[in-house]
Amino acid sequence: MAQIPNVKHSKSILWAGIFLVVGIYLFAQRPTPLVDSESAGRVIPVEKMFRIVAAENNAARELYTKNIVGYGMKVGLGFSEKWREADVAAGPLPALFLREAATSIQKSRIPLGLFLGSDFPIARSNNFGSAQAERFKMMRASSKPQFFYSPDIKLQVAMFADLAVAPGCVTCHNEHPKSPKVDWKLGDIMGATTWSYPKDKVTLEEMVQIISAYRGGVVDAYEAYLAKAAKFSKPPEVGDRWPEDGYFLPSKDVFVKEFERRASGNTISLILQANSLLKVPD
Ligand code: HEC
Repeated sequence: MAQIPNVKHSKSILWAGIFLVVGIYLFAQRPTPLVDSESAGRVIPVEKMFRIVAAENNAARELYTKNIVGYGMKVGLGFSEKWREADVAAGPLPALFLREAATSIQKSRIPLGLFLGSDFPIARSNNFGSAQAERFKMMRASSKPQFFYSPDIKLQVAMFADLAVAPGCVTCHNEHPKSPKVDWKLGDIMGATTWSYPKDKVTLEEMVQIISAYRGGVVDAYEAYLAKAAKFSKPPEVGDRWPEDGYFLPSKDVFVKEFERRASGNTISLILQANSLLKVPD
């Protein structure tokens, strides 16, 4: 079967969704003028863009944390911070899966930064810089995402709370020898997913490219895990089944399809809201 690269694949699905709705809008509301003049100059504020990628990231993080790591540990799959080492039969922890995705985005030509930090990090390199640390304090107090321009790095920044959503988050961090905090509780804000971008608004086309770059990052991270799993002395069977069913891993296509199924509907409606395409004239 011919393989379509996943980045292009998810990009074309997104565009198909957007054009479908743009088409319906133009057809139902305004048969003329044409798409070009109608959509020209439409821009999405960077804050909305950050909310869209953060929602994509929540879908990927939840899928990986619960359906791969959570169920995987029950059937004997290992996950470790040392997963890159040849003699460690393990996959990446959720935080490291996110870092894999971030590194892949960095290699794309899209200037979207992604970083998971904390004020009590296990890894020192995950500590916030001073501007982010100030904002993180505000976020702890208000529980609201923070959006700001950071003059030191000359970038627009968004911070979203990273919550202790599962008992595993709390026990693993509290028991980790390098954790500076040992009394994390369920529901705590353990850190923040921090995004950066050089501009304060993006066009619809840039928005689609950003989502494609993010999704490409998720695909790369999952592929890196599959490549490692293939080298285990007892490699899991890779195909249609998930760790929930036993010692299995979904193939790249099965994983990506499930991620896109969870993320796409929400992303398309957020894009449309941001771009006011659904605003019907009275
Ligand atoms: C099995 C252990 C384990 C589990 C489960 C786990 N983490 Fe972590 N987490 C780590 C380790 C180890 C690091 C440091 C990784 C690195 O950057 O080297 C880390 C990093 C982080 C960071 C970045 C700051 C830091 O501490 O370095 C955040 C925030 C975080 N985890 C939150 C969570 C949340 C929320 C969950 C649950 C959804 C979770 N973790 C589940 C072990 C774990």
